[in-house]
Formats: sequence, C-alpha cells, structure tokens
Amino acid sequence: MAEEIKKEAPANFKVTIDNITIEVAPGTTILNAARQIGGDVTPPAMCYYSKLQGSGGKCRTCMVEVAAGSAADPRPMPKLVASCRTNVMDGMVVKNITSEKVLDARAGVVEFLLINHPLDCPICDQAGECHLQDLSYQHGKEGTRYEFKRRTFEKEDIGPYIQLHMTRCILCYRCTYVADQLTDKRVHGILDRGDHAEISTYISKAIDNDFSGNMIDVCPVGALTDKTFRFKNRVWFTKPVDAHRACDKCCGKVTLWQRGDDVLRVTARKDEWGEVQSYEGKPGWICNTCRFDKKHSNDWIIEGPTNISRHSVISQGHYIGLQKPRETIAEVMGGREPKLLMDIHGISDVNSVDISLLPGPATSKTFEKKE
Ligand code: SF4
Ligand code: FES
Repeated sequence: MAEEIKKEAPANFKVTIDNITIEVAPGTTILNAARQIGGDVTPPAMCYYSKLQGSGGKCRTCMVEVAAGSAADPRPMPKLVASCRTNVMDGMVVKNITSEKVLDARAGVVEFLLINHPLDCPICDQAGECHLQDLSYQHGKEGTRYEFKRRTFEKEDIGPYIQLHMTRCILCYRCTYVADQLTDKRVHGILDRGDHAEISTYISKAIDNDFSGNMIDVCPVGALTDKTFRFKNRVWFTKPVDAHRACDKCCGKVTLWQRGDDVLRVTARKDEWGEVQSYEGKPGWICNTCRFDKKHSNDWIIEGPTNISRHSVISQGHYIGLQKPRETIAEVMGGREPKLLMDIHGISDVNSVDISLLPGPATSKTFEKKE
C-alpha cells in the first residue's frame, strides 16, 4: 500500500513562497525550499543548522504563515509554523515577508530573544558576524518593554581555547549538537530548565576533543568565542582569505582572517546561510590543530580572497574588484612621488637649496630661483 502511494506521489512538490513557485523534492522543509529561492524570501534561522541532525525548532525565528496547506486540502494552517520543522506539501502556499502576522510575530520573537541578551555589541567579538545582531536590525524594535533585571552569568572557560559568555547565549542548542555529533564524549550541555537553563560543562571538565572548536563556528551569537582571537580585532578590519593545508584529521579547507600578513583567526568556511560549507556532500568541519595551532600564513596554501556571500558588514570591506582612484600626482609633478612633496629635509628641486641647513622655517623666499 505504502509503495502504491509512493508511486502515485508526484516526483516533485510545487510550493509557492511569497508568490514565487518552485518545485522541490518531497520531504523538503519550507525553510530549505525557501533557501532554494534565496534572498529575502528565506526566513531567518537562529537554531536550525542543516549539518547538525535534530537542530531547529527551538528559537521560532523561522516562523511562516501557511495560507494553503496543500492542493488536496487548501485550508490555511491555524497558527504560524516553524519553517525549519514543517515539510512542504504539493500545492502549499506559504507567506513569509508578505505576511503581516509573520513580521509581527518575528518582532515579538526578537524582543524575547533580547530580553536577556546584553546589548554589548561594541565590545563583543561576534559583532559584525552575529546573526542576532542582523536579526535585530531587520526585525527588531527600537526599544524594550522589559523592566526587570536581566540574568547574568560569570564567564567560563570551556577548555583551553573556548570561552563561554553565557549571558549572551540564546539556548539554540547548536553547540551541544556539535559536541554530540562531532566529538567522542560530550561533557557539556544545557543544565537546568526555564530561566535557569544554561550551557555548562559537567563538573567543569574541559572540552579537549579535536573538533570542539566547531562550537564557536556554529554559535549564532557571541556566547562561544575563540580565546586566541578575543579582543584582537574587529572582524570588519580583517581580510578573510580562503586557504588549505594537507591535514590528516579534517578537510583542511579554512578561512584565514588576516590583518596585514598576520593570521588573527582561523575558521571553517561558511556559506551564505552562515553554515559550514560542504565538500563532496560532507560538512567541512575543521580540527583544533588547523583552527588554533596554524596561525602563520606559511602554514597554509592561500587560494585567494573569500567571497562573503552572506549579508554582513564584513562584505563592506570590499577588496574584490577594488577600484583605486587614479594616482595623478606623479604624472603632474614630473614623476615625483607624493611622499617627496613632503620631504622638507631634502634638497629643493627648484633652486637646490638644502632645506635642512636653513636656520629657520622655509618661506616662499627660500625657493626663489637664483638668477
Ligand atoms: S552557546 Fe551559542 S551555540 Fe550554544 S546554545 Fe548558546 S547560543 Fe547556541
Ligand atoms: S530556525 Fe526554526 S525554530 Fe529556530
């Protein structure tokens, strides 16, 4: 019987999201269907991470309105649904940015996320690449109605390389999935419930597994930061370049965040959704050796500038296709370089006076031509 239904089912489901219709495979979630369309039609996702099994369904930022459930049953769904956890049906009609209800609910979700999250972006290492910062600019309100004391936590070192700033955590669970799915033994998780819920290590054990650094990459906010990079630089002043090395533990494909020739930080390469890129169908997680121990550009084979496709302030530091203004000083000054124009200690080109030997400041008289 099940086989019969499978045979009759269409090979592709048609779904319309914000008036754009596409065909996707059965079993695709609304969020992933929207990602296939791309751009503003795609709902934001603070907890879903396609490379982590079981992620999603925690933050509610991806909620959408289903205006028609399917071609067979076109009734609307009574409530907004989490697009990361709801599969498309053939003939489904979804509203994201075209729905007032969605925009209103999303503003409410952002307000809730910010109830306890500190607005410390000016000192937070994640500023410039923080998904919550982007979300607040796109969907947040100007003020808060919250009058109570925000919950605060002491900063905690999770192993030698990672610092947890629990005050900033939005409990998306991504880091615990990394620990569960990438490391041998998970020693950290979410302890307690409700307002007391917090990420912590079991009896303060350090996380020293080779892949623990990936928690930093999946954290959508500045709760888990790289201790080797903390406060070293603002991310938009750094230059991301793609690089690789032969590594026997991981794919060895990374982004180096450079300032001049110094490598300030090493991360996995991210796609336009802020998730690690996949190579040959496998997520490109990187090991701690590549991330924390290879901080010299000659440890790496540089491939070229990283294309920052995600909407981010980092992409404001354009350096691909950079157009420098035409330098005309040397042309109009007979080949003299600009710095020489300021070289007041040199010999004047006009009348060969040695300016450094003048008893006082040079005046226009100094440069009068001798007859
Ligand atoms: S520490 Fe970061 S990744 Fe972990 S649950 Fe909190 S916000 Fe999510
Ligand atoms: S991304 Fe769907 S609930 Fe968080």
